[in-house]
Amino acid sequence: MSRRLKVVQWTTGKTGSAAVRGMVGHPVLDLVGCYAYSPEKVGRDVGELAGLAPLGITATDDVDALLALEPDCVCYMAYRPNFDHLVRILESGANVVTTMYMLSGSGYGQEATRSVREAALRGGASLYSSGIYPGHAPMVALAASAMCQRIDQISVLESLDISGYANEQMFRAQGFDLEPDDPRAPQLVEGSCGSFKDQIGVMARALGVRVDEIRFTAEFAAANRTTDFGFMTVQKGHIAGFKGVIAGVAGDRPVIECRFVWKIGEDMTPDWPVTRGYVVEIEGDPNVRVKLESPDGHFDGAVTTAMPCVNAIPAVCAAPPGIVNQMDLPFVRGAHQIR
Ligand SMILES: NC(=O)c1ccc[n+]([C@@H]2O[C@H](COP(=O)([O-])OP(=O)(O)OC[C@H]3O[C@@H](n4cnc5c(N)ncnc54)[C@H](OP(=O)(O)O)[C@@H]3O)[C@@H](O)[C@H]2O)c1
Repeated sequence: MSRRLKVVQWTTGKTGSAAVRGMVGHPVLDLVGCYAYSPEKVGRDVGELAGLAPLGITATDDVDALLALEPDCVCYMAYRPNFDHLVRILESGANVVTTMYMLSGSGYGQEATRSVREAALRGGASLYSSGIYPGHAPMVALAASAMCQRIDQISVLESLDISGYANEQMFRAQGFDLEPDDPRAPQLVEGSCGSFKDQIGVMARALGVRVDEIRFTAEFAAANRTTDFGFMTVQKGHIAGFKGVIAGVAGDRPVIECRFVWKIGEDMTPDWPVTRGYVVEIEGDPNVRVKLESPDGHFDGAVTTAMPCVNAIPAVCAAPPGIVNQMDLPFVRGAHQIR
C-alpha cells in the first residue's frame, strides 16, 4: 500500500498515548483525529495528551465528527470496549486495530463477536487485535517454531515487575491487593486471562494442532509489607503477585502454554524470580529458547503493547473484511521505523 493512511486514535491512556507518539512523523500514517473518553480530555490537544508538543489535533467525544474525517483506520485502545462505537466505526468502512485481544476472539460473548463481524462485513472493514502479550510475543514463538522438525511443547512466558505500568483500574480488575483467600481472586485473574485462551487458539491453528481443552492454573504471592507504588497501595498480606499458566492440551499433554509471572514490586512471598521480559521455549528437536528483553532492564509496556498494532495498520487496511487475526496478515514488522 503506497498511499498515506488516515488514522484516528481512540483514547489516550497508556497504550493510546504510546500509539500517538509512534505515529507522529510516520511516513505512511497520518494522525487526523482523536476520541476522548474522559470529559476533561475533550477539547485538549492530542500531542499534549500524549506527552508531546501540540499537534494541532483536538480530542473530541463526537463520534460522527471523527467518522466524517473518513479515517482508513481507528487505533482503538480504550480500557473496555464500547460495542456501539465499534459497530459504527466498522460500518463506516474504517478498519480497527486494537490492543483488546479479546475482541478478535470469544471473550465478550457470541453476540458481541457477531455484531462486530457483521458491522465489519457491512463496512468492508477489518478488525485486528494485537499487543505484546497476547499479541506479538507469541508470534515470535511461532516464527521460532519454523526451525523445528519436532515440537513437544511450545511456551511463552511474560515475567515482569509491573509497578512501572501505572494502571490501578487494570491491576485491581486482575485481583491485585485482594486478600489471598478472597474467592474473587481466582475468578478475576482467570477472567483477565480470557484473551490468552483466544491466543492459544490462534497458535494452535497456526501450528496445525487440535487443542481439546484449555486449562488455567494460578498461584498468588502475598506482600511482605504495605507499599505505596504511587498509583496504588498494596497492603501487607494482600496479593502482590500472580504466577500462572494457560495451557492448550492435546489429549492429556499440554502442548501450547502461555505463562505469566506478574509482580508488583519485589517484596513478597513466595518470591518468584522475574526475568523482565518474554521467554519463548520450544521443547523438541531442536530445543529452542528465545528471550525478548531490554538491555535497559525493562521495556516500556505501553510502547511494546501499542506498536504491534500501529505497525500492523497498513496490513490491516489491506486485509479482507471481517475479524482478522495474526495468521491472516503478513508477518507484522517495524516497517518504516528505520528513518
Ligand atoms: N495485549 C496486550 O499486550 C495488552 C497490554 C496492556 C493492555 N492491553 C489492553 O489495552 C487496552 C488499553 O490499555 P491501557 O493500559 O492503555 O488502558 P488505560 O490507560 O487504563 O485506559 C485507556 C483509556 O480508556 C478510557 N477509559 C478509562 N476507563 C474506561 C472505562 N471504564 N471504560 C471505557 N474506557 C475507559 C480512557 O480514555 P481517555 O484517555 O480518552 O480518557 C483511558 O485513558 C486495555 O483493554 C488493556 O487490557 C493489552
